[in-house]
Amino acid sequence: MNEKITIGKLELPYPVFPAPMAGLTDPPFRKLIDEIGYIGAVFTEMISIEGLIRKNKQTLNMVKDFSSEFPRFIQLFGSNSDSFVEAVKIIGGETEFQGIDINMGCPVKKIIKKGAGSYLLTQPDKIKIIIEKIKKISDLPLTIKIRIGFNKINILEIAKIIEGSGADGLIVHFRLRKQKFSGEPLWEYGEKIREMINIPLIGNGDIKDVVTAEKRLKQTDGIMIGRAMLSNPSIFREIAKKDKIEDKQIIKRFIELMEEFYPKDMLSPRIKAFARYFLKGKDFPKELKKEVFHCKEYLVIKEKLLEYFM
Ligand SMILES: Cc1cc2nc3c(=O)[nH]c(=O)nc-3n(C[C@H](O)[C@H](O)[C@H](O)COP(=O)(O)O)c2cc1C
Repeated sequence: MNEKITIGKLELPYPVFPAPMAGLTDPPFRKLIDEIGYIGAVFTEMISIEGLIRKNKQTLNMVKDFSSEFPRFIQLFGSNSDSFVEAVKIIGGETEFQGIDINMGCPVKKIIKKGAGSYLLTQPDKIKIIIEKIKKISDLPLTIKIRIGFNKINILEIAKIIEGSGADGLIVHFRLRKQKFSGEPLWEYGEKIREMINIPLIGNGDIKDVVTAEKRLKQTDGIMIGRAMLSNPSIFREIAKKDKIEDKQIIKRFIELMEEFYPKDMLSPRIKAFARYFLKGKDFPKELKKEVFHCKEYLVIKEKLLEYFM
């Protein structure tokens, strides 16, 4: 594995990144991944620029953080370039994030309707304006996370614009918007983009294990892992050829962090959101799974999970 990757002024220790995931990569999960280590940086889930500007309570809760060893990137979504500027000023002045990522890949209808997420891929001029305006007022490293297109592939045009506007890195989920999260990701675009641009390219899509990770690292400068990290948070250690952390330790630590961060009434929905992915691919009995997901009592859910893994 190539050891380092440089994004703007940040020299990051490993070219492997945990993906931003709405409702999942919350402060406790980010801390868990930071402790597991062997990553380049941690990313928040997507954060609304309008929510940040209005100081929406829920948004502010999403950007809180535990202390961390690895650099932290905040991922923003929105559409209005002036609001992006305002949000970035807040980040620079009031937070300790060391990098900014912009979501230009989200396929969800609610986001697209607002002209944000992957919808921006249909508006290359707007992409240019957003990046240029942000770079004018902030020296924080800036990455852009995109897909290979909205309904048709336009990644090569968009990648050039993103680099030309001054972004420091490009993250690509190698699918079209209309593919959402299934169908083959077109990784062959990795080599094509790398030939064209000089900023680091981080590739993403269906990296499920160490073998795939190693293959993909040859096609890009870095990789980003989403769903496989949720079922196996220790995947970053496996890629770095370090000892795996056992599931029982992971779940125990995650529960501790959650209990430290959330009020009691939030714990049951939060642990279920995590368990939905964490239990994937494990021999967790079907009946027990039903009991866990139908139960509303946090303490009962916790006990069932801990009992199984201990
Ligand atoms: C439940 C869920 C939530 C996601 N939330 C975000 C998000 O907030 N920001 C973002 O850029 N991508 C988000 N993604 C996309 C992932 O970051 C990633 O690009 C995608 O899952 C493909 O990578 P994977 O095959 O490794 O999971 C989300 C994906 C899922 C399944």
